[in-house]
Amino acid sequence: MISVISGDKIKIIPDKAPSKETKITYLRISVTDRCNLKCFYCRPENQEFIPRQEILDYEDMVKLVKVLTKFGLKSVRITGGEPLLRQDIEKFVAMLNEVKGIDDISMTTNAITLKKHAKALKEAGLRRLNISIDSLKPELFYEITKGNLQDVIDGIVEAKKLGIEPIKINAVVIKGLNENEALDFVEFGREYGVEVRFIEMMPIGQGQIKWDEDMVQPLEKVKNLIEEKYGELVPSSSIGSGAARVYEIPSINTKVGFITPLSNPFCDGCSKLRLTVEGSIKLCLRTDDEIIAKDILKNGTEEEIEEFVRKVVVAKEISNQNIQFNNYAFGECQRIMTSIGG
Ligand code: 5AD
Repeated sequence: MISVISGDKIKIIPDKAPSKETKITYLRISVTDRCNLKCFYCRPENQEFIPRQEILDYEDMVKLVKVLTKFGLKSVRITGGEPLLRQDIEKFVAMLNEVKGIDDISMTTNAITLKKHAKALKEAGLRRLNISIDSLKPELFYEITKGNLQDVIDGIVEAKKLGIEPIKINAVVIKGLNENEALDFVEFGREYGVEVRFIEMMPIGQGQIKWDEDMVQPLEKVKNLIEEKYGELVPSSSIGSGAARVYEIPSINTKVGFITPLSNPFCDGCSKLRLTVEGSIKLCLRTDDEIIAKDILKNGTEEEIEEFVRKVVVAKEISNQNIQFNNYAFGECQRIMTSIGG
């Protein structure tokens, strides 16, 4: 029997077929919980890493991807932790590239070591990249991450040179810290030919600080600030931008996006799943609900995995209904972001 585990509660998935309309189009895979940065809001200082033998093998991840293509999967995002720290990550990209039906392989990285990996990633079939930068001031960047901003910029320049496109920058806006950098980020976007997406900070996991509503900068304010300087933003779109509301800034031919899980949630019709680093399927970032998939992915036949995935799709349907019912409130997601895949 397959059930959804939520903290110490277990919910049985009803024995029924998923509705034909429900599609899973997007899967995020966390390939490692390790990270070479220490963003204070993302992970605890002395994070205990999951032992290597408990981490899912690439082969088992690919089994899930293959079966999910029968349920609509087209896009896979590789994430972490910092995915470039997992050994042979290029090999994994190439494995995904072989799966029929997958036409969009992307990665979310902090780009600290991107410069050295970019060429092999591109050759393996990586199409596009999201890169996290929360401040463009080297000192503040260091304060937030304990890393070197120039390494990230070198990675961006290299990836651009190789034609990895689009490159999107993720900037988590934190009130009192980097909220005054919005216009600098827009200029950065123009200068480097990248799309900046501002993100509201979510109450997820346990960083070195406890999340507080006062840290959340509603992004409408940031949008207004940009419009004051550059003129009206025109709604636009961008490949893979399910969560972001994307706008063109015509006066400088640059795009910006806003990801507003708190002030303006985007849960309706969500068709996204996450695979955690130790092989559980997470239905939604707002709850701790997950389904253990490790054993079946390791030992199941393709038919058994397909039967399992059918139940996962039913669980996702129910999760979507509950989210609407709860008015999109964030529950308690205790898992650390690095193991979920941010
Ligand atoms: N709220 C919003 N974004 C977060 N990220 C990590 N933790 C949080 C949080 N609590 C972001 C990272 C990265 C992306 C994968 O998720 O900064 O850009």
